[in-house]
Amino acid sequence: MSTLRNQTWLLLGASGGIGRAILAGLLERGARVLVAGRHPEALADQFAGDQVVPVRLDLNSEQLGMSLQDLITTQGLPDGVIHCAGINQFGAMEASTDSLLSNMLNVNLRSPMVLARELVPAMRERGAGSLVFVGSTFGSIGFPGYSAYCASKFGLRGFVEALRRELADSPLAILYMAPRATCTAMNDAQVNAMNKDLGNHMDSPERVASAIFRAMDRGNASLYLGWPEKLFVRINALWPRLVDRALRKQLPVIQQYLHKGA
Ligand SMILES: NC(=O)c1ccc[n+]([C@@H]2O[C@H](COP(=O)([O-])OP(=O)(O)OC[C@H]3O[C@@H](n4cnc5c(N)ncnc54)[C@H](OP(=O)(O)O)[C@@H]3O)[C@@H](O)[C@H]2O)c1
Repeated sequence: MSTLRNQTWLLLGASGGIGRAILAGLLERGARVLVAGRHPEALADQFAGDQVVPVRLDLNSEQLGMSLQDLITTQGLPDGVIHCAGINQFGAMEASTDSLLSNMLNVNLRSPMVLARELVPAMRERGAGSLVFVGSTFGSIGFPGYSAYCASKFGLRGFVEALRRELADSPLAILYMAPRATCTAMNDAQVNAMNKDLGNHMDSPERVASAIFRAMDRGNASLYLGWPEKLFVRINALWPRLVDRALRKQLPVIQQYLHKGA
């Protein structure tokens, strides 16, 4: 386990299921953690001492860039950032609203871009820094009932890949971590039941966090969690028709759950 003692990390999504497990890992490694979110005090109050620092940040805000500049001014430039915030809602595309679509695109896709834009120049000047983005298996496989979420996560994967290549001549680490379905509040009882019916495995947040830290320690540029999901990611890239056919067979079950939510 690599130490992060004397380092400050910024964690977005620390109040979420995977975020809490990542927060525990950062603290165990000795980092000081800036927990940024809409209600950061509620989380920070659970920790004594000054290792956890609450920072208010709404990733859906138009003023996100300015808020990040303020954060750097008041807290200093963090050694690393883990973007583990996200929004998802299982449902048919025709049932989506404009506000859901813009919220999802802002939090899942626009905020990682703004974050990189605001932090990369100063990290480059300092000569060190890590940006870790949490994507999803659904950033590589389009899945019925998740079209907007898939669009945002496909976008995130493309963004991180391009950014990593753009900064390949710099000492910065740019990582993309893609969990499969995970047991957190992001998935309601209906989604959990559907995953069970479809035979889709769900990981614990702790398992996801350990895999992320392992990948960070090894400096892996990307991580796809779970078997057979990582195989499906490859198959979908090479032979998407095969995945079309497999998902077509599962569609009646998926539709049952889509209609239950209607
Ligand atoms: N759970 C899964 O099945 C799964 C699978 C693959 C990938 N992922 C990805 O893993 C990451 C973490 O997911 P999770 O399962 O831990 O989700 P979660 O338990 O629902 O937590 C979501 C987190 O995002 C934060 N967030 C949402 N909107 C925000 C906003 N406008 N401003 C600031 N923070 C905001 C929430 O903070 P608040 O306290 O403010 O609500 C919360 O901390 C996400 O990127 C997700 O897409 C999850």
